[in-house]
Amino acid sequence: MIKVAILTLSDKGSKGEREDTSGPTIERMIKKIGAEVSSYEIIPDEKALIKKRLLSLCKKADLILTTGGTGVSPRDVTPDATLEVIEQEIPGIAEAMRYKGLRKTPFAMLSRAVAGIRGKTLIINLPGSPAAVKENLSVILDCIPHAVEKIQGSQKECARHLKAKDKK
Ligand code: MTE
Repeated sequence: MIKVAILTLSDKGSKGEREDTSGPTIERMIKKIGAEVSSYEIIPDEKALIKKRLLSLCKKADLILTTGGTGVSPRDVTPDATLEVIEQEIPGIAEAMRYKGLRKTPFAMLSRAVAGIRGKTLIINLPGSPAAVKENLSVILDCIPHAVEKIQGSQKECARHLKAKDKK
């Protein structure tokens, strides 16, 4: 079972001034790949705090999904904190999300989301709105179990993870 930490970045959410519906959206979606939520927190958009929480969660979770703070507002610092934590970037994950997202909205190009690895943990940034979470996570969801397996050292053949329709 993949252990997932959900980290919601929101100044208002952390003060209880806005209900977080993006975290629960992530929880519903990751159940489809047989993953379980091992922790869920809402913290403000403070780079040092985000970094600290990411470093701590890396010791416990296989996957950290952040939501929020990926944009271009002055308080959006999630990707900047993430880049200081990861040891290897996986640009294709964020590229895929932006590529598919642009078919829905030109605003998809405004997400600076990044993804990468620290130790044996995969960290992926998602934008903040529940609609954006749904659209972005649905792009990468099927790839997550294989990515986690590989990050944790699995020697399994990659081809076995392809769906029959993709095997041609
Ligand atoms: N990507 C998709 N697929 N759908 C969306 O609605 N919203 C965009 C973008 N990515 C969106 C999306 C918007 S409006 C912004 S500002 C950026 O994500 C950053 O969002 P964040 O600051 O909430 O992380």
